[in-house]
Amino acid sequence: MSSDFSNKNVVVTGGASGIGFASAKSMAGAGARVSLFDLKSDRLMDAAQSIGALAHVLDVFSRQSINDSFARAGDVEIVVVNAGIASQQNVFATSATVWDRTLAVNLSGAFHTVQAAAQKMKKHGRGSIVLTASTNSYDGEANLIAYNASKAGVLGILHTAANELGPYGIRINAVCPGLIRTPLTARSFESPKLLADYFRHIPLGRGGEPEEVAQAVMFLASERASYITGATLFVDGGQMASKFGTWGKDTDTFDGQRWIRKPD
Ligand SMILES: NC(=O)c1ccc[n+]([C@@H]2O[C@H](COP(=O)([O-])OP(=O)(O)OC[C@H]3O[C@@H](n4cnc5c(N)ncnc54)[C@H](O)[C@@H]3O)[C@@H](O)[C@H]2O)c1
Repeated sequence: MSSDFSNKNVVVTGGASGIGFASAKSMAGAGARVSLFDLKSDRLMDAAQSIGALAHVLDVFSRQSINDSFARAGDVEIVVVNAGIASQQNVFATSATVWDRTLAVNLSGAFHTVQAAAQKMKKHGRGSIVLTASTNSYDGEANLIAYNASKAGVLGILHTAANELGPYGIRINAVCPGLIRTPLTARSFESPKLLADYFRHIPLGRGGEPEEVAQAVMFLASERASYITGATLFVDGGQMASKFGTWGKDTDTFDGQRWIRKPD
């Protein structure tokens, strides 16, 4: 069993930034040939150049652009289905446009990517797909109704596809990150009050880094996870294990980024 990615042909959607880029960088560092699929931007070109990856411009909502990008990427063995967006509004303020776009990118985009990847992998009788779901696939963080619905739907893709792709030697799993420091969440990380409240419920007392999610993506993608399919792996500092919160002002202090236990 190995997590050697030498000569593995890997695709990462949303690979120009955050969790996708960290995953792509880790796999490129372990020997993979990586293609980044992302929206057109200087950031995509810079990201690809920095890790020796190929850049493919696409919008995951466009099936045609997904098909074109996979046709150029060759015989892929590992696909990280990660492109995503989030927009914060309460249930009353969420417009049809926000709802449609969020579902189009996060849910329909994931479906189209999984289907296109599996069609290629089926011919070779092997492959590994990793979805970026979320802790929000399970619970209802306020002001994110479209995002939460899309990420709950990703688990429907996961469970169904695991059933149908297993006979073709294709595994599919998901990481479920908690709050991770990326451009998507930059505003949250600038608010110590929000962080203190949020991280009170996280046993490890802090947010996560994209590289910490990348390690979980690498594991699920690799042959070390050869008997794992249809599974979700939380990368959340224990958030989903916590019911009433771990940290409090009597016993702990918050330093602006993390909770720390006061000496006894
Ligand atoms: N950061 C977190 O706290 C967190 C937590 C749980 C899940 N996630 C999920 O992780 C994934 C990556 O998020 P991130 O935090 O790294 O965000 P990010 O904004 O840093 O990266 C997202 C990437 O997706 C790309 N993208 C967006 N729409 C696209 C489209 N239509 N077609 C192609 N590419 C598109 C963006 O250009 C960007 O490069 C998302 O699915 C997100 O929902 C993030």
